[in-house]
Amino acid sequence: MTTYHIAPSILSADFSRLGEEVRQVVEAGADMIHFDVMDNHYVPNLTIGPMVCQAIRPLVKVPIDVHLMVKPVDRLIPDFAKAGADIISFHPEASEHIDRSLQLIRDHGIKAGLVFNPATPLDYLLHVMDKIDLVLIMSVNPGFGGQSFIPHALKKIAAARKLIDESGKKIMLEVDGGIHVDNIADAARAGADTFVSGSAIFGHPDYRSIISEMRKRLAAV
Ligand code: DX5
Ligand code: ZN
Repeated sequence: MTTYHIAPSILSADFSRLGEEVRQVVEAGADMIHFDVMDNHYVPNLTIGPMVCQAIRPLVKVPIDVHLMVKPVDRLIPDFAKAGADIISFHPEASEHIDRSLQLIRDHGIKAGLVFNPATPLDYLLHVMDKIDLVLIMSVNPGFGGQSFIPHALKKIAAARKLIDESGKKIMLEVDGGIHVDNIADAARAGADTFVSGSAIFGHPDYRSIISEMRKRLAAV
């Protein structure tokens, strides 16, 4: 049986009360905290960095899943390692040397992930499967919360699931963008096991009820 993980993206949290939001969403049943890092260069938005990661780290025990949407990638890896990140993922287009960036993450004792935009081919994976702990399929173009799920992502998830299963390795398969109660089961059926959700969770008045509704949908897969 698949173990499913729900990873609220704090991009949609109330930043004036970020610590409280992080605590509340974990109390409500979140399995990890998804931490979106945008640099106004690789993506057209600017968010949060290692200082904020360090500030929320002591508040919760669940893993912090850092999604780097930055270019260059490598410079920030040691900083996020120091700040207590558990997983660091990056986009292959943003790294000059993908294998080196993955190795750098792992050298810090952190799980390494590769992120695929809607139009980025999965081919990169074939050459670095042994250095990957997580594959993240974007179901929106990166840069903003609250966008609509791109249906083609389901095919991409299924293709990534096949590659992961063929590798025989324990690699998480995460989906990010436009996930809500009505499509989370579709993503799970396609093969995802980890679900990022920002606006659907933080936009809901009751975090516990929205997360348990998501779990209910997953349990029915
Ligand atoms: C988009 C980010 C996502 C985003 C998800 O670039 O990587 O993590 O916050 O937000 P929703 O769930 O609102 O699409
Ligand atoms: Zn993200």
